[in-house]
Amino acid sequence: MSFPSVRMRRLRRTTAMREILQGVKVHPSNLVYPIFVDENAKAPIPITAMPDYYRLPLQQVVAEARQAVEQGVKAVILFGLPSKKDETGSSAFAQDGAVQKAIGELKKEFGGELVVMADVCLCEYTTHGHCGIVKDGEVVNDLTLEVLQKVAVSQAQAGADVVAPSAMMDGQVRFIRDALDDAGFSEVAIMAYSVKYASGFYGPFREAAECSPQFGSRKSYQMGYGDAAEALREMELDLNEGADVIMVKPALAYLDIIHLAKSKFNVPVAAYNVSGEYAMVKAAAKNGWIDEKAVVLELLTAIKRAGSDLIITYFAKDVKSWLC
Ligand code: PBG
Repeated sequence: MSFPSVRMRRLRRTTAMREILQGVKVHPSNLVYPIFVDENAKAPIPITAMPDYYRLPLQQVVAEARQAVEQGVKAVILFGLPSKKDETGSSAFAQDGAVQKAIGELKKEFGGELVVMADVCLCEYTTHGHCGIVKDGEVVNDLTLEVLQKVAVSQAQAGADVVAPSAMMDGQVRFIRDALDDAGFSEVAIMAYSVKYASGFYGPFREAAECSPQFGSRKSYQMGYGDAAEALREMELDLNEGADVIMVKPALAYLDIIHLAKSKFNVPVAAYNVSGEYAMVKAAAKNGWIDEKAVVLELLTAIKRAGSDLIITYFAKDVKSWLC
């Protein structure tokens, strides 16, 4: 069968016809909204490279989450900016740390209505800005694992539903799973940043979280992007270590990897639509060069179509109003 009996345009004639047939639809309930809690902030601090997005004082976290919930969002992921950093990132596991307090307040306010996730990493908390413990100019894997365990347990104690290790240390998922189980938190889930590329797209986040490495780069632990086989190994290892959700990050330049993740493992897959991806869209939209709403819906649909179940995105709060 071919033209003229086949006419593909028959099913494109009206909005309703197009909508009943659209297989992949973005929905706010699949989006995760990142929140940066800043221990030093008295008021929201704008992030230059992330227009319309702010670092927040603890007192405003619940209100911000409420806005997201009102827009149909059911999950947030927390990042912290501590008032003091040190060599070993010890404020990452402080019981009265900004993230730990924010988790407590969010769970008290929203209970089971909101999934509270917390990023498990050290880079926002270390003076050198690396994601692990540094000795003689190198990030030392196994020493870092013990600190990541403390961070994850402190977040679980505060009430986190999901911890999300993002330091890219080998064995981090196994160590965190063991520590959580030993501390009585076997029900807390792990969303592993399994495939995290050493990417130029994190620039605005590093401004936002003040976590640029003070020497070298993250290339000795984050992945190079020239090869898909390494991504498969990382995902398989994390699943074997007990990851409940695997993540691919960034999203847009890695749709093939998201597709591989879903087709190969058929487990829950998250994609992180990162700060640089947000910044590009915002910059072009603010110049009047693209239509923000049209472009964001197109991008998020593509990230979902590639195979992700969850999308972490700074646009999470905007989507509901754009869908109608
Ligand atoms: C911490 C972390 C980073 C991001 C999320 N967790 C920064 C990095 O690895 O440099 C980036 C998120 C974004 O760019 O939106 N390791």
